[in-house]
Amino acid sequence: MVERYSREELAGVYRAIRERRDVRSGFAPDALPQELLIRLLGSAHHAPSVGLMQPWRFIVIQSRAIRERIFESFQDASSQEHKTYSGERAEVYSRLTLQGILSAPLNLCVVCDCASPRGHSLGRHTMPETALYSAVCAIQNLWLAARAEGVGLGWVSILDPERVKTVLKIPAPMRLVGYFCMGFVENFAAEPELERAGWERRLRLEDVLRSETFDQPWGTVQP
Ligand SMILES: Cc1cc2nc3c(=O)[nH]c(=O)nc-3n(C[C@H](O)[C@H](O)[C@H](O)COP(=O)(O)O)c2cc1C
Repeated sequence: MVERYSREELAGVYRAIRERRDVRSGFAPDALPQELLIRLLGSAHHAPSVGLMQPWRFIVIQSRAIRERIFESFQDASSQEHKTYSGERAEVYSRLTLQGILSAPLNLCVVCDCASPRGHSLGRHTMPETALYSAVCAIQNLWLAARAEGVGLGWVSILDPERVKTVLKIPAPMRLVGYFCMGFVENFAAEPELERAGWERRLRLEDVLRSETFDQPWGTVQP
C-alpha cells in the first residue's frame, strides 16, 4: 500500500491551499534569500506538464528601472480598465490595490514556450492550449509553496503583454502567462481582498459541482 502522509503533513498541505492569498500590499522591503527563491522556483519546476514538455520559463526581476517600466504599463492598462466601469463599481475599483510591482522587492515573469518541441507534442494535438495550462500549474505550485514559506505572491494581469515582452526582451513566439510581485509579508488575509472590498463573493462548492452531465446539479454538498 502507498504510504499516506502523516496527519500533520496532510494538515500542512490543506492549510497552504486554504490560506493561500493573492497579495498586493504589505510587503517587507527585504530581498528574498537566494536559497529560498530557488526552493520556490524549484517547486514551480516540479509541476505537471503536457507530454513532460516543461514549457515554463521564469524571469526574476529586481531592477527598479525595469519594474518602473512595467508599472507604467499597469497604470495605462488599469486606467483603461477603470473606464469600463461606472457608478459605484468604478468607485470601488479606484479604491482597490491591484498590484505591488514597486512595493514588493521582487517581480517574477512566467512565460510559456508553447512551440517547444519538448514532449514531442504528446497531448497537444487537439488541445495545444495545454502548454499554457502546464505553465499555470507551475504558478500554482509556486503560489502554495510561497504561502507555506511566508512569502506573498500577487498576480498582476492588468498589463499590456506586448509591452511587457518588449521591456523584458521576451522572444516573440513566447506567450506571457503571468507577472507577479513577490516578497515577505507580515500577514495573509483570511479572505480574498476582492471579497473584503465587496467586489465579488466566493461561490459555494455546490454552485460549481455537477453530477454526470453539465445540466445536472450535484445538490447539497455534505461536509
Ligand atoms: C489569472 C489571474 C490573474 C489575476 N490578476 C490580478 C490582477 O491583475 N490584479 C489583482 O489585484 N489580482 C489579480 N488576481 C488575483 C485575484 O483577484 C485573486 O486570486 C482572487 O480575488 C481570489 O483571491 P485569493 O487569491 O486571495 O484567494 C489574479 C488571479 C489570477 C488567477
